[in-house]
Amino acid sequence: MPVSPIRRIAICTGGGDAPGLNAVIRAVTIAAIRRGWECLGIRDGFNGVLFPERYPAGGVVRLTRDLVRGIAHQGGTILGTTNKGDPFHCQTRLPDGTLGEKDRSDELVAYFAEHGIDALVSVGGDGSLTIANALHQKGLRVVGVPKTIDNDLDKTMTTFGFDSAVGFATECLDRLHSTAQSHQRVMVVEVMGRYAGWIALHAGIAGNAHGILIPEIPFDVDRLAEHIQARDAYGQTYSIVVVAEGAAPRDGHAHVLQPAEAGHAERLGGMGEQVANALQARTGKDTRVVVLGHLLRGGSPTAFDRLAALRFGAAAVRALEEGETGVMVALAFPNVNYVPLHDVAGRMKAVPLDGDTLQTARDVGICMGD
Ligand code: F6P
Repeated sequence: MPVSPIRRIAICTGGGDAPGLNAVIRAVTIAAIRRGWECLGIRDGFNGVLFPERYPAGGVVRLTRDLVRGIAHQGGTILGTTNKGDPFHCQTRLPDGTLGEKDRSDELVAYFAEHGIDALVSVGGDGSLTIANALHQKGLRVVGVPKTIDNDLDKTMTTFGFDSAVGFATECLDRLHSTAQSHQRVMVVEVMGRYAGWIALHAGIAGNAHGILIPEIPFDVDRLAEHIQARDAYGQTYSIVVVAEGAAPRDGHAHVLQPAEAGHAERLGGMGEQVANALQARTGKDTRVVVLGHLLRGGSPTAFDRLAALRFGAAAVRALEEGETGVMVALAFPNVNYVPLHDVAGRMKAVPLDGDTLQTARDVGICMGD
């Protein structure tokens, strides 16, 4: 069946922000306008549509060239985002006063039909793209764009935001070497990444860490303590250890700060502190913890992320023009291609245990906690 021509599209950004979101918004807007389409921006994920009362100036705005001028290098998202914005599991107050959840996805699909919006560009990570896939199954024309600092999305070589996070974490590690060395300390650096160790592994290798703990390799803290003591024995009296927030000991679990709730994934954090305490107890060395947390999500995108985001945005518009739907634009070096959303939704790309990057860490003598 021939697809109807596009006149109006909408774009939304969902989940945790990542450097490069504004570059996607700029590319989508301009590429759409150049085709004679109108481009609308939905505020805070889908909240601009589902909760219009929260937006006196409008929950859905018409994006113009002026609105997207000079934003590609800026962090954050001009549209706002939320990681509590799942329309299939909307948090709602039940008649008995307690909090429950409601499926409002039909309202969203109806809004698109009523307002003549022919397609959606959904920019997000695993959660947002799983929602995008479900909306596609409800008949919406959807193209996804892979965003996350965690780099844990399948079927794309990389997500935008990851390079910026790794670059910043590496710079932090560079800075920590001199203070750790001056005080002969162990510095434990906790980084984000959810249940994938991409940020920890890449920044840890680039930043010359001596130990790296990732979720993919359950760790034995005694092995790490021995490694630090061995370094001491040959005169390297300081150590830098990178701990992914999702890392877990062999005999334990990842540290959950807050359990999952309606439309919101669980929050991880605190493993750095646990590892630091265990290392101090075992080695007797003065140990400090640095949690990089949301600093990894802030700031300007690197040139790599900016370019990836612009390419993804432009490719999303081309995909719609070519009649594609239910796909995600993906980096398949050297080009951007399209992959089915259902091959991405609900899947996590973990660090491969047989990959050369992990092997590189081992070959240069970094302790992986096993
Ligand atoms: O997915 C991006 C991410 O930054 C994760 O690395 C982290 O676990 C999570 O988001 C933190 O989310 P929040 O913004 O709810 O603290």
